[in-house]
Amino acid sequence: MDGFREANNFGLNQKVENAQFHVKGANNLSWGMKDRLSRIFNPKTGRAVMLAFDHGFIMGPTSGLERIDLSIVPLVKYADCLMGTRGMIQTCIPANVNKPVCLRSDAGSTILTDLNRNVLIDIEDAIRMNASAMAVMFSAGDGDREAITAANLVKAVDMGNRYGIPVMGVTAVGKQMARDARYFALASRVCAENGANIVKTYYCEGFEKVAAACPVPIVIAGGKKLPEKEALELCYNAVNDGAAGVDMGRNVFQSECPAAMIQAVYSVIHEGLTPDQAYEKFQDLSK
Ligand code: R5P
Repeated sequence: MDGFREANNFGLNQKVENAQFHVKGANNLSWGMKDRLSRIFNPKTGRAVMLAFDHGFIMGPTSGLERIDLSIVPLVKYADCLMGTRGMIQTCIPANVNKPVCLRSDAGSTILTDLNRNVLIDIEDAIRMNASAMAVMFSAGDGDREAITAANLVKAVDMGNRYGIPVMGVTAVGKQMARDARYFALASRVCAENGANIVKTYYCEGFEKVAAACPVPIVIAGGKKLPEKEALELCYNAVNDGAAGVDMGRNVFQSECPAAMIQAVYSVIHEGLTPDQAYEKFQDLSK
């Protein structure tokens, strides 16, 4: 007790703050889950710019991802979160970049086959990778593939809940399904109903209904490469219609100037720039 000072700072006139958590649908999650979600979704804006470079797990070395050390590493500092496979992250991304990882956690089929026998990676490897979230595909309306991916999603959520790792449901578009609000609303909602903490889907007409009916944050994929201004409009419309950010790949790494593009996207998502303002920023940074 030598040097012990009696406690006398109890803040008797100050109420304990029980602030709402900034991520949609996450109020009742564990501290560890919230901590991981906070690494992905900026507590000031509630939004996220996720940089997706997992395309090779289905497509092999696609344009812009031939050398991730050359194309993606220089962009890492501009992203809120990295979305890739364990193989590419552990071989190409320096472990000291200190960015949260949304780990692509399923695998099994490529563009060479129609067979979908997707499997999940071991949760222990996601823990070893210090994953802040696990991304798992869900494909609605596609027969066996729906059943397999739903089982994967449920297993990932069960494991994620056990260890405090959020799951991002990745809505794939089944062969029989149109890319419309009805499909994306269904697929997103099924992901959330099964416990996904984040949903990745696509922007579409009527997206505000997709977002409204989904009780967890939606990030949109960019899809195939668009002219930069159109891609920025896509981001702007998505967040205005209720998305919590983007999980964008090709429209960043296939841009004429990827570093300028990701910064322009960031400005739309976090700083409220209009597409015109963001495009001007893209052009300035491209010089
Ligand atoms: C698709 O399942 C992949 O996970 C991609 O990460 C995703 O589509 C986002 O990439 P992009 O913006 O190129 O569509």
